[in-house]
Amino acid sequence: MIGSSPATWDAMAQGYDAERTADPVYDACIRQAVADLHPAGTVLDCGCGTGLATRHLLCADSVHGLDFSRQMLKQIRRRFGARHVKTMQGDVRELPYPDAMFDCVLVANVLQHLARDDQRRAATEIMRVLKPDGRFSVSVHHYSVEKQRAGWIKEGKPGGKDGCDYIFRYTRSELAALFPSARIRAVGFYNWPAQMLITRTAGHTLARRGHGHMILAYGVARKFAQANLSVSIANKSRRPFRGR
Ligand SMILES: C[S@@+](CC[C@H](N)C(=O)[O-])C[C@H]1O[C@@H](n2cnc3c(N)ncnc32)[C@H](O)[C@@H]1O
Repeated sequence: MIGSSPATWDAMAQGYDAERTADPVYDACIRQAVADLHPAGTVLDCGCGTGLATRHLLCADSVHGLDFSRQMLKQIRRRFGARHVKTMQGDVRELPYPDAMFDCVLVANVLQHLARDDQRRAATEIMRVLKPDGRFSVSVHHYSVEKQRAGWIKEGKPGGKDGCDYIFRYTRSELAALFPSARIRAVGFYNWPAQMLITRTAGHTLARRGHGHMILAYGVARKFAQANLSVSIANKSRRPFRGR
């Protein structure tokens, strides 16, 4: 499996917002991801799409949006204009930014579209571009007990009508392995009342028990680096974005 392609997201860019803005679980997920990030200073929205999460970051001093889909970037530029959000076409597996550039990095609903082998590479890149005490917040689709019981696939082409070509649904331990020392909470509960309240008060426990449509890893880069001394992030060669 090679993961998701920019062409797929180009094709979905026009209709992307309509479905998401009507979905309370999606909304709860990005709001909690932003709340756990505490955006301030120079912020990157990595895999920004049309900017639905980016709009909650505008309180920061400087906001950057990166995506590998040209059409997604067109939508975000239309939404904010170049003055408010600096956009860049690029790949989360090879970020086109110098080391330690950002105070905060948000990665909302992106890593689930990367093949397994590329996920660690992306996590390493996210940490590389963060300042030593920078903060990150990463939300992904959860391979929850409910989905497992209902027979949802773990990875591959998902069902549903939005046309996405590849999804990898994470267990809590798979996400924890990518971001050691991060806190992990469950977020997004279809048909549960007061879901933001549940997320805030019981999200960590619910993640440990395997519940929640999404899971969210958040924390501070320095702690990540200490837990990942074995991961070398130095001397990486940079190649220009070529897409796939
Ligand atoms: C589900 S959308 C999420 C968009 C936005 N973060 C949100 O929450 O609404 C996934 C986004 O990630 C982008 N994406 C997927 N794989 C990527 C990669 N390897 N590098 C950069 N962007 C990627 C897609 O183009 C798409 O815009």
